[in-house]
Amino acid sequence: MRRIAAALMLPASLSACASVDATQDNRPAMVAPVLTSADASDPFSYARPQEARVTRVDLDLALDFATKTVSGTATLDVLAKPGTNAVVLDSKGLEIRSVTDLTTGTPRPLVVTAARRDDDKGSPVVVGFGPGPEKRRIAIAYTAPAGAEALQWLAPEQTAGKVHPFLFSQGQPTLNRTWIPTQDSPGIRQTWRARITAPKPLTVVMSGLKVGETEDLGDRRAFTFEMTKPVAPYLIAIAAGDIAFQALGPRTGVWAEPATLKAAAYETADTEKMVAVAEKLYGPYRWGRYDMIVLPPAFPYGGMENPTLTFLTPTFIAGDRSLNGLVAHELAHSWSGNLVTNANWADSWLNEGVTSYFENRIVEALYGPRRARQEAALSFADMETDIAEAGATNPETALHLPEGVAGPEAGLTGVIYDKGAVFMRTIEQTVGRTRFDDWLRQWFDNHAFQPATSAMILEDLNRNLVRGDTALANRLMLEDWIYKPGIPANAAQPDPAAFAEVDAAAARYAAGDATPEAAWVGWTTAERMRFMAKVPQDRSATQLASLDRALGLSRTGNNEVLFLWLKLALANRYDPALPLAERFLSTVGRRKFVAPLFETLMGEGEWGRAQAKRIYAKTRSSYHAVTSSAVDKVLAGGK
Ligand code: BES
Ligand code: ZN
Repeated sequence: MRRIAAALMLPASLSACASVDATQDNRPAMVAPVLTSADASDPFSYARPQEARVTRVDLDLALDFATKTVSGTATLDVLAKPGTNAVVLDSKGLEIRSVTDLTTGTPRPLVVTAARRDDDKGSPVVVGFGPGPEKRRIAIAYTAPAGAEALQWLAPEQTAGKVHPFLFSQGQPTLNRTWIPTQDSPGIRQTWRARITAPKPLTVVMSGLKVGETEDLGDRRAFTFEMTKPVAPYLIAIAAGDIAFQALGPRTGVWAEPATLKAAAYETADTEKMVAVAEKLYGPYRWGRYDMIVLPPAFPYGGMENPTLTFLTPTFIAGDRSLNGLVAHELAHSWSGNLVTNANWADSWLNEGVTSYFENRIVEALYGPRRARQEAALSFADMETDIAEAGATNPETALHLPEGVAGPEAGLTGVIYDKGAVFMRTIEQTVGRTRFDDWLRQWFDNHAFQPATSAMILEDLNRNLVRGDTALANRLMLEDWIYKPGIPANAAQPDPAAFAEVDAAAARYAAGDATPEAAWVGWTTAERMRFMAKVPQDRSATQLASLDRALGLSRTGNNEVLFLWLKLALANRYDPALPLAERFLSTVGRRKFVAPLFETLMGEGEWGRAQAKRIYAKTRSSYHAVTSSAVDKVLAGGK
């Protein structure tokens, strides 16, 4: 399954860290080795960065809400290996008007071959610039047409305020090529700048720090942002709408629509403390500010770790901060993901698994071991279920996904999150917390602003943690964790006490319908979720009605609990839950909730299929492409 590392023989100036600005980080420019392993290559990009790599992107774009298009220019700085005549970019649907060579004082039009190859990857854009110096600059005039998959243009009715439209982007994993012509691969790092114009009164925010004053252009305004650290291209993100800001601490704050801002600020109130706790664990926060934006409910994910500006679903707002592990998770990506980045989507466990572990450590430091252990136990149970469903010998249950088994989205099968976290916890418990934390901290420090692969972390673990101790190596089973499917025998087990009370209550309920209404009131969100997972899946309408009455399920303000209730109800063809399910599916676009609810309906014969088709006919156009493409497959009977 493993491939042998083969050196790519890059000239030093083309190495992955060529664009690191050492002056901003107080580090020598070249601390980590050049990325040389074959498993760093990205089959989901047409770019050939070994020959010519984009090091900086400068955008000058106008947002047009009437046509749902983005137009303007992208000026790219390119570092070309001597003798290289062209740079290959990724594009999916971009309408390129012209490409100009700005390398010398005299601009010169360039020939572009945009092979039409409309697969998932889009098409390669080959910009032939001929022989010349190592450093080139090209300007691309283009439009991202309506339908660009990264972008979702919301109608006013889809916002809380109902008056103004809204726009947001989602780049990960391979969607940014639908609105930015660059090399769209996570092993590449680029600094960027963007000047964006939008109609008044909309405010634009991006995943970089705002520079200068907002420009007044009459009926429009221009906002400029800059990212001075080299980041992977999937991390460039934009949102625009009628939004307001509330500071939470000296370097943290939250954006939201005015109607949502108060609730958003309450739910994220601990963010400044989270940053402090994260820094204490694994080293300095290197991005300046940590702000968040709570988007309208159409956002297809729970959260997205866009640097300096995490994007969040409003569905994590529970009124009691019990789902703010989401913030801890996205913040943790400021180390695992944004600082040290999977070079390749086959290794997205390096982003998501390490982050899930880090998230739990933040939760533990801030809210104590009880909540942390409960959340870890929920995640462990999810891992067991996911791996059992996939089959313990299924190669997709390995952390490193072997070539050919998965698309760039495979990262969202929960396995890499939960198994990745258990892997980290297993190492922690084997070598002790202090030693493990020292190792993880140096991993972040020594690979800061660099892409990383499974082979690299394995090598690092062996060199800096195992250090030739063969007895320890045998106890750790590192290669089994990374490259083999299933759950290795040494997996750190969840705390058996975490759900002792809930599991006993669930057993009593299963045996004789004794609903735990008294205990429920005092339970944590994790305990309630555990109980819902343990409710026997086959329930009569009477049983569902009394469960709902006892626990107030259809009135809960907690969307994780509500989702589990709706899934249970729909799986039992429980008509009284239909209006609520329909309302939920008409407002919430979060794929993790939407796709399974449609899947549940589709599994319920003619009753469910008819409902699924009827509801989807109304809601499809309100979903982001990430969600609608998943639900399309569900309704096509694929799953
Ligand atoms: N980076 C992910 C979201 C993502 C992963 C988008 C892969 C596209 C492809 C983000 O950090 C994430 O993991 N979000 C989770 C929340 C988290 C608490 C598990 C989500 O959206 O549910
Ligand atoms: Zn994540």
